[in-house]
Amino acid sequence: MTVAVTAIPESKCRTLVAGATGFIGRFVTESSLEAGRPTFILARPGPTSPSKTKIIKALEDKGAKIVQGLINNKEKMEKILREHEINVVISVVGGANILDQIPLVHAIKSVPSVKRFLASEFGHDVDRANPVEPGLTMYLEKRAVRRAIEEAGVPFTHICCNSIASWPYYDNTHPSEVTPPMDRFQIYGDGNVKAYFVAGSDIGKFTIKTLEDPRTLNKMVHFRPPCNYLTINELASLWEKKIGKTLPRVTVTEEDLLDAAAENRIPESIVASFTHDIFIKGCQVDFVVEGPNEVEIEELYPNDKYITIDECFEEFAINTSNNNEEVVVVTEGFEDEIGNKKQSNKRNVENEEDASGNKKQSSMNKLSSTAAAKSSHVVEALPVPAVC
Ligand SMILES: NC(=O)c1ccc[n+]([C@@H]2O[C@H](COP(=O)([O-])OP(=O)(O)OC[C@H]3O[C@@H](n4cnc5c(N)ncnc54)[C@H](OP(=O)(O)O)[C@@H]3O)[C@@H](O)[C@H]2O)c1
Repeated sequence: MTVAVTAIPESKCRTLVAGATGFIGRFVTESSLEAGRPTFILARPGPTSPSKTKIIKALEDKGAKIVQGLINNKEKMEKILREHEINVVISVVGGANILDQIPLVHAIKSVPSVKRFLASEFGHDVDRANPVEPGLTMYLEKRAVRRAIEEAGVPFTHICCNSIASWPYYDNTHPSEVTPPMDRFQIYGDGNVKAYFVAGSDIGKFTIKTLEDPRTLNKMVHFRPPCNYLTINELASLWEKKIGKTLPRVTVTEEDLLDAAAENRIPESIVASFTHDIFIKGCQVDFVVEGPNEVEIEELYPNDKYITIDECFEEFAINTSNNNEEVVVVTEGFEDEIGNKKQSNKRNVENEEDASGNKKQSSMNKLSSTAAAKSSHVVEALPVPAVC
């Protein structure tokens, strides 16, 4: 399934992405390139893994220019920004490197060509949300970066995009690289707290749209798509509809999540503390966006469509069924004799090739959903769904 993505207006602004090889960074960089922006990506010098080399090569093939550097080296960053006449800097560095951005902020301050800085936010409003530790430490660091930006007078936009569209495994850092469960659901608390889910490619697309928009200058931009406003019980029912079967629902209590957070295993415990904040405390929905320094993206671009969680789950289901004879994906428009709407997506994937001629990889052959939920590292090997 391919979901149509609305075009982003072309821009000649020269954009540098730090963290382009990362999980969120890839979506942002792809969108920048799709928008026809001159896009530079900062690659860390030194040896890198084969998978990262492949990502860099793929981005380079799409037109990205590679620049070697580290954001925590102020002098070098200043030189890079000047030499390449950078207008916009987007940082998408991971949770372990948040404070590395402070020297970058100081470098940006001394280079007048830079008109906008997007720090590595891409989650909640960190001045509002108060997760338990160890998530809190990451938020304290993100707050410190916000204060450094304000003190330096660097023009900014903070992207508060809420949750990435996927099944929210509580111990997995990159859940959208893993299919929703096939054996049982783990439901947090009573499962009735709402949250917002945004497809990775929409995070990229709307982030790029904000870059030259004067309405987003020095503002927090909240992503709150009404079509993707769901509880975890609703997510579970949606997935059951897609795979055509009912799964057991096991309660993960507030205490279970707090215990997982208290174990202080990094990064899993950080994810447990965010899961507690979202699905027990309701941190995404317990406030109204009304301050002078914040805006909702749906108000800025009311005619742009979001990829729905329904579409994302359909894509997950198709990927799953391609690799699992037991699964029959239920889609709109085809009814079986007992009146259920059905469509089998079983295909001979062994011989199927993608647009670039590569043989498609099986995700479900590599690991079961339960195993996937247990590992935040194995998922690195899994293909990211095309749009979500
Ligand atoms: N809303 C959500 O659901 C969600 C989900 C995940 C993440 N996030 C947020 O998104 C942001 C990015 O996280 P992520 O998980 O996408 O990160 P990630 O996958 O860990 O990738 C981090 C990237 O930053 C680069 N990097 C780290 N330190 C650097 C430095 N000093 N100089 C230059 N590059 C550096 C890494 O380079 P190498 O390739 O060399 O390692 C890598 O490309 C974070 O703020 C995180 O909290 C949000």
